[in-house]
Amino acid sequence: MTEKIIVTSALPYANGPIHFGHIVGAYLPADIFVRYQRMRGEDVHFVCGTDEHGVAITLKAEQAGQSYPDYVDHWHREIGRILDSIGIEFDLFSGTAAHHNPFHAELAQGFFLDLMRNGYLEQRTEEQFYSATLGRFLPDRYVEGTCYKCNSPNARGDECPSCGSWLDAKQLIDPRSTLDGSTPVLRETRHWYLKLDQIRDEWLAEWFTAKTAEWKVNVRHFVASALDDLRARPITRDLPWGVPLPGEFAEAGKVLYVWFEAPIGYLSISKQYWNGQGQPERFEQLWKDPATKLYHFLGKDNITFHAVVFPAMLWGTKAGWVVPTNVPANEFFNLEGKKFNTSKGWYIPESSISGRFPVDGLRYALATMMPETADSDWSWREFQARINDDLADNLGNFVARTLRFAERFLDGAIPDLGPLLPQDRELLDAGAAAAEEIGAHLASFSFRKACARLMAFGNTCNKYYDTEQPWATRKTDPARCGQTLRVCAEAIRTLAILARPILPDTSGKILEALGVTAPPTWADAGGVGLPAGPLRAEPLPVLFPKVADQLVAEELAKLEKMAAEPTEGAPAVASPATEAGAAGDAAQEPIAPEIGFDQFTAVDLRAGTIVAAARHPKADRLLVLQVDLGFEQRTIVAGVAQSYDPATLTGTRVVAVVNLAPRSLRGVESQGMLLATDGPDGKPRFVAPGEGAPNGTRVR
Ligand code: MF3
Ligand code: ZN
Repeated sequence: MTEKIIVTSALPYANGPIHFGHIVGAYLPADIFVRYQRMRGEDVHFVCGTDEHGVAITLKAEQAGQSYPDYVDHWHREIGRILDSIGIEFDLFSGTAAHHNPFHAELAQGFFLDLMRNGYLEQRTEEQFYSATLGRFLPDRYVEGTCYKCNSPNARGDECPSCGSWLDAKQLIDPRSTLDGSTPVLRETRHWYLKLDQIRDEWLAEWFTAKTAEWKVNVRHFVASALDDLRARPITRDLPWGVPLPGEFAEAGKVLYVWFEAPIGYLSISKQYWNGQGQPERFEQLWKDPATKLYHFLGKDNITFHAVVFPAMLWGTKAGWVVPTNVPANEFFNLEGKKFNTSKGWYIPESSISGRFPVDGLRYALATMMPETADSDWSWREFQARINDDLADNLGNFVARTLRFAERFLDGAIPDLGPLLPQDRELLDAGAAAAEEIGAHLASFSFRKACARLMAFGNTCNKYYDTEQPWATRKTDPARCGQTLRVCAEAIRTLAILARPILPDTSGKILEALGVTAPPTWADAGGVGLPAGPLRAEPLPVLFPKVADQLVAEELAKLEKMAAEPTEGAPAVASPATEAGAAGDAAQEPIAPEIGFDQFTAVDLRAGTIVAAARHPKADRLLVLQVDLGFEQRTIVAGVAQSYDPATLTGTRVVAVVNLAPRSLRGVESQGMLLATDGPDGKPRFVAPGEGAPNGTRVR
């Protein structure tokens, strides 16, 4: 029976280009999956669009001096162009702003009202930073300061790019306004909270346990820990751009939080598509059929919202929306072993890629490098190897040698199939086996394995050609030569079908050369399937020109040069957005500006020992520590409650900054700071002084 399948790719923020990190995380795997499922005959719907609201957008539009709609239009077009250039084909690529999508605000408001009616929203009055100089509330992202979890100095009000934690802006250490650097003040405002903990207890936890056994391990881990730490989250913001609250809840300057309404974009874009098709009823038929399978493709940094918050919202409306079947998120993608970083010149300029290689070559190479289970890398050498060894020498070679032989010696005519020898049958069966295994890999999001299995079948084909030696049998046994070529042509047909989700253009070209005009289904792969009777096979131009060593050397040199002389904000398509990307790079903490030796020695660091530790009475992230510095004992407040049980801390050696101005952290004065570094879980761990250094010894 035909399955109804909805596939979504994370909606990229309309505030910068998307790069390889996003492409391998959210777009290419989704596109390959969709093409595969369509070839299987499933009823697949594939939507995406730009994420056009939120502080990430307003901040940048304001900096650029552009109106919000003009600003998002620019990036909407640019991102659309990039996705096109790599052959990603959505049913519709729209957006969430009203001028792109007339259905979005209404649907998002409907979610708000449904959740309200079902008792999952609650209003809280709370303090929010307010800029006295500008006379406006400052949403979390308009405030920066020092992270109270990891002490990184560059934390944003909503999250810390260093340790990736969600933050409470009010707990930031030394807060400042990003608009003018002034110190904001706290003022009361009203916000709506989504009671995620209640939904977890009523449904989410059970659903997660029951329904996600086959999810990727990386995703399950992430969700499991997010579930433990779930609490009500505010879903409204004080911002002049976004989806207004509905009806009686409307209030000037208050909008739905972008992360609340953006995923509803999947529904609103779908609704827009079906309306455009003149079949508006299909929208709910699809999204409210419990049998529909829903897949969200995205990068690691979007897991919580798609695998926890959005399912909770969908369910909480009690409106019958389907919940995700799977959230096959990828990990992060780096460049030659280091995080992509545009401002440091560590990126791939568009000119290095576009027009230089067949799009399919790039798709294939990226698919072999996907960060499916762990972070992975773009490497130019690897790219060269995948094009040259896999696509040119294996797949391309088999197609070319077969078709060229037919053209030269058989005048392009390949005879009809005669009786099959065991080795002929074996090759045709190998095609069927490959179809089965590659299909299973694609269906389970193992795109790298699918690529490897495709190449393994290519090898089998080349071996068959080598062993059957058509160049020899041409003289000794022309009938056998013809039969060999015919079997090869059948194998090429299978190769083209199996490669099709990853290499759509190439597949089309090959099938056309074999005279196959009807779009193939997955079930057509393997065995015999070319039209009966003699076949006219057309030779093809070289499918995958080899990538020269020199090109790789040049690109590597270019990269080193760009990294040595970075141009701030260089125009770069294959570069990371600086915001946490849809799929991409973890924001690496940038190296701080250079300082002189004097500035270094100005920081007085001393060895010390913790002699007492207690929880902070008001902030559950903070511990209040007594540190013996030899010459005196001090109270130091540290954001390490997530890493350490205070009971175990006594006796721990630490390094303290002792000449920092004291400051009050939620009512407790901290007389210094302790050095810490992130552990593998992203939580801070103390740095210890050298062994045997007495308390009070200077660290230099
Ligand atoms: N714009 C977000 C990002 O780029 C992703 C949003 S996905 C959505 O990280 F579902 F919320 F739309
Ligand atoms: Zn942090």
